[in-house]
Amino acid sequence: FINKIIEENEIDCDFSWQPSYIYTNSEEYIEQIQNEVKTASALGIKASYQEETPLPFKVKAAVRFDGQAQFHPRKYLLALAAKIPGQGSNIFEQTKAVDIEEENGCTVITDSGIRVHASKVIIASHYPFYDKPGLYFTRIYPDRSYILAVRAKSKYPGGMYINAEQPARSLRSQPYENGELILVGGEHHKTGHGENTNQHYENLLSFAEDTFGVISVPYRWSTQDCMTMDGVPYIGHLTSNKKDIYVATGFQKWGMTSSTVSALIIRDLIMEGDNPWKEVFDPSRTTIAASAKNFIKENADVAGNFISGKLMSVPENLDVKKGEGKIMDIDGYKTGVYRDSDDKLHFVDTSCTHLGCGLKWNDAEKTWDCPCHGSRFGYTGDIVEGPALKSIGIELKEKMYS
Ligand code: FES
Repeated sequence: FINKIIEENEIDCDFSWQPSYIYTNSEEYIEQIQNEVKTASALGIKASYQEETPLPFKVKAAVRFDGQAQFHPRKYLLALAAKIPGQGSNIFEQTKAVDIEEENGCTVITDSGIRVHASKVIIASHYPFYDKPGLYFTRIYPDRSYILAVRAKSKYPGGMYINAEQPARSLRSQPYENGELILVGGEHHKTGHGENTNQHYENLLSFAEDTFGVISVPYRWSTQDCMTMDGVPYIGHLTSNKKDIYVATGFQKWGMTSSTVSALIIRDLIMEGDNPWKEVFDPSRTTIAASAKNFIKENADVAGNFISGKLMSVPENLDVKKGEGKIMDIDGYKTGVYRDSDDKLHFVDTSCTHLGCGLKWNDAEKTWDCPCHGSRFGYTGDIVEGPALKSIGIELKEKMYS
């Protein structure tokens, strides 16, 4: 479907067909890989069992899927977005939707006060910003991953790869300035739970160095996505009795495909009232009960973080180095302190404005991250990522120490 859109619209987004491999170097996954090949084949998906891959290291087993798609998502989306304005369709950037009123249809409330009326609303904002009816924060957790874009000494052998075991390693390439970048990803952890987050980049760098030899790392980034309790995205009505509000979330870091799946299903639900895959992705599916063990574990983590965040003892001086962020006790308030490269101190309240969990410092991204539902705030207190809708107010404390 994506390929068809790219061809029809002549989108230049580095699209190519590539083989995709899941490989393992651990005995314990060999049988699972064999089963994966059998199951895929039984479903009519072309898959083959391999004992070698084109990668420059040995593997114990791999499943190979041919004819998989690789493309540059931002180039693809910019081209699509450029086609949207007109015929009643618009994109509004820098306009944060914060609530929905449900009288006489739907009214989306934005932070600028602008109200947008619509007969149908689709919430596609990671965590739904309108969550009162669905309590999505109790059945989604955010997970982060890291990636390096590397100029390497060896040439990339083609293909896309991910291993089965931990630590996760994911590989693919991207055309770049008459050459290529190798994208090396992995090192996932729940948001707000990675202790020394810079270490994750270091670990990827050492893997890239051992595998391809690194000349330089022009780009690196980390990101997070919502994970569901049974590993299947939530796509459909926000709750079973909300017929005009739809949600698409929980893509499990497979957003390039899951977003397209969501668009097709929700389009059909709105236009035809049905889709053959509706029940599989239904956010209110009863099969979710089968994942109750995970569900309870995720929520237990929330409670634990809430308490330890509040009671944590903190140092009583402002011993903060440049580029460092710390939680300190200042005038009896647990306060987040960051010293920037110009020696300026930035203070934040480390209680998350979503439901009050204690925020943790993320040294790799210089943000305050919430271990409960993954809200993130810049060191100045601004929101980077929801579900929180309010920043972590700093002005008062800044004045005290100016
Ligand atoms: Fe829910 Fe922080 S994101 S308490």
